[in-house]
Amino acid sequence: MTTHQQQSILIVGGAGYIGSHMVDFIKRAGFYPVVLDNLSTGHRDAVIDAEFIHGDLEDPILLDEIFAKHTFAGVMHFASFIQVGESVKDPAKYYQNNFAATLSLLQAMLKWKVQHFIFSSTAAVYGEPQYTPIDELHPLAPINPYGRSKWMVEQVLKDYAASYGFKYAVLRYFNAAGADPAGRFRERHDPETHLIPLVLEVAQGKRKAITVYGNDYSTKDGTCVRDYIHVTDLCAAHLLALQQLWDGANQLTYNLGTGEGYSVRQVIDTAKAVTGRDIPVIQGERRAGDPAVLVADAKQAMKELGWSPKYSSLRTIIEHAWNVAQPIAEKA
Ligand SMILES: NC(=O)c1ccc[n+]([C@@H]2O[C@H](COP(=O)([O-])OP(=O)(O)OC[C@H]3O[C@@H](n4cnc5c(N)ncnc54)[C@H](O)[C@@H]3O)[C@@H](O)[C@H]2O)c1
Repeated sequence: MTTHQQQSILIVGGAGYIGSHMVDFIKRAGFYPVVLDNLSTGHRDAVIDAEFIHGDLEDPILLDEIFAKHTFAGVMHFASFIQVGESVKDPAKYYQNNFAATLSLLQAMLKWKVQHFIFSSTAAVYGEPQYTPIDELHPLAPINPYGRSKWMVEQVLKDYAASYGFKYAVLRYFNAAGADPAGRFRERHDPETHLIPLVLEVAQGKRKAITVYGNDYSTKDGTCVRDYIHVTDLCAAHLLALQQLWDGANQLTYNLGTGEGYSVRQVIDTAKAVTGRDIPVIQGERRAGDPAVLVADAKQAMKELGWSPKYSSLRTIIEHAWNVAQPIAEKA
């Protein structure tokens, strides 16, 4: 395996939930992370002990300065807006930031001859599942602008690989969840739309109840089933994918999930067991666009990258998220 110890990796969006975990992971693996983030949804204090540049992907002068200063062995791109509902209300915001801004990053990479790129894609590129578990050959038919903005970048990457010798890995995450096992970083979205942090906010008394949208799906308990992947396991897959590119791979596309689905009901019950607190539920109607089951077939990533999720049992995910969700005073 090629070694790039102490080499610089640009982590765009490194002040966000997944990016901040990645910065720490890559540093512990012996690399030098450089973070570019405009803090639109990220947090400056989530980047500890790494070079931080406050700025926007769409600033070509800044990108030039950054690429002139560093020789990057790779670029990991986490920066995007992530709310499906908002993308339906305001698609321009999503196409501009998730697609157009990505093009300016790719432009800078071409100019500075940096060719190794890891892209945070999503299960949303598949749209309504035609079968489950979903493998990488499942048709791509995103049903909202968020998913389409990611799909568009995926298409561009194929063309750049064919024409410019660009080397990329597209990583399609299912539901990223959990937090740093050592308790230093956590999920902090505003507004929060993800189930596990919302459920834990109820356990903490910050919310009165959790709304469960639909209980008549054809699943084991009638609630929606999702595939939760621990954020640290995601980070491990990113580094393995980059190493594959260094070792000669050109175009990689992998689902990142566990292959196991948990229902909303199971998440709530596990959170009750982990926290020892009551979690009241409000029964809501089904939401448009919510498939009954979204579970990854991630065997390809496991086989080809030698990746094996270590922290992604539902209980461990919730334990780690709960560990960092509580203020220190509450834990005592
Ligand atoms: N969280 C999930 O469950 C999930 C699932 C699938 C895919 N993803 C993808 O993973 C990536 C990271 O998600 P996250 O949950 O960490 O989101 P996040 O909002 O916590 O992090 C995104 C970061 O990017 C920064 N950013 C956004 N636009 C920028 C720009 N133009 N220039 C510079 N910085 C910019 C934000 O300030 C933030 O720090 C996203 O691309 C998302 O689409 C996330």
